[in-house]
Amino acid sequence: MASLKLTINNQAHTIDVDPDMPLLWAIRDVVGLTGTKFGCGIAQCGACTVHLDGNPTRSCSVPVSAVVGQKITTIEGLSKNADHPVQKAWIEHQVPQCGYCQSGQIMSAVALLKQTPKPTDADIDTAMQGNICRCGTYGRIRQAIHTASAEMQSAPKMPKSTPKIGKR
Ligand code: FES
Ligand code: FES
Repeated sequence: MASLKLTINNQAHTIDVDPDMPLLWAIRDVVGLTGTKFGCGIAQCGACTVHLDGNPTRSCSVPVSAVVGQKITTIEGLSKNADHPVQKAWIEHQVPQCGYCQSGQIMSAVALLKQTPKPTDADIDTAMQGNICRCGTYGRIRQAIHTASAEMQSAPKMPKSTPKIGKR
């Protein structure tokens, strides 16, 4: 056992676990964030996708000791009220069927849009091909990603620096 400090969704957690425990186990069973799902356990389905320093990662296949010092983001950390543009587009297009794969799909979609703000269908198919959906929601996933992309493009950008207010 080891005492490990993790940063998940901008919150610090200290957990006592076997350092070889898969990150997914730590997230779900130790920290209690159950939005991230277990599908295959061998990095083949994408259900367990989280972000490590912004990069989509299969949490079932990463030992928890390897992510100390990295910023871990789970589906719960995307937004406070499920109002991230990707989450809103998922609702608008009624993407989920059983829903089991969908947190992983959304995490991969968010990472895609960060990398490629205006993806083509081919970009989407390439980026999302590792996320398996047994309910076959791929068409709606593609539509929702285009909708989220459009919303993110039209959102007003924050100025890079705020004007300084002079001292009196
Ligand atoms: S559970 Fe991790 S990729 Fe399937
Ligand atoms: S919505 Fe059922 S597995 Fe994807």
